[in-house]
Amino acid sequence: MPYAPGIRVFRSPIHGYGIRAVAGFQPGETIADVEGVLYKEEELVDDRYCLWIDDGFYLDMVDQTRWINHACEPNAEIEAELDGKGGAWARVVALRAIQPEEEITYHYGFPLDLAERCTCGCKSCAGWIVDPDSLPELLARTAFDHGPSTTGPDPESPNSLR
Ligand SMILES: C[S@@+](CC[C@H](N)C(=O)[O-])C[C@H]1O[C@@H](n2cnc3c(N)ncnc32)[C@H](O)[C@@H]1O
Ligand SMILES: [Zn+2]
Repeated sequence: MPYAPGIRVFRSPIHGYGIRAVAGFQPGETIADVEGVLYKEEELVDDRYCLWIDDGFYLDMVDQTRWINHACEPNAEIEAELDGKGGAWARVVALRAIQPEEEITYHYGFPLDLAERCTCGCKSCAGWIVDPDSLPELLARTAFDHGPSTTGPDPESPNSLR
């Protein structure tokens, strides 16, 4: 498994394990190339650590990048594509300047049926990890309970659509 020296796994205030920067990053700088295993949707058993690559294709992240948490105001984004040779590539890229020790986050953009409560703590936290285009419908469905979770996501909870 390739080791990305610019990032470290740590206990995140957002959720479980997260990733933080060792040194800083400049806007547009590649934080890490993602080592992953490509799956067709019908082959996938567990999508928790997967990136959506293209229709029907997911990349199961198998290096430090699998621990990167979601934030509603992320400091990074994922660039990813099928490589046309039966594989795929993906990388994590800084959206803005990132300071040493800062947690690295990207916006997961989950589809409605995979939405989870969000504990990112950002000022503009949507309360949910979901594609912003699907947020109005999600809030309408959960009209009586749409604030940010204080206890973190629970797959068994009615707050989770997983
Ligand atoms: C790829 S894992 C990220 C690593 C995760 N923190 C862990 O320790 O396994 C993705 C899962 O982490 C959790 N997660 C990530 N970002 C979150 C956030 N902002 N709020 C709540 N849970 C989050 C969700 O359960 C999500 O499905
Ligand atoms: Zn949030």
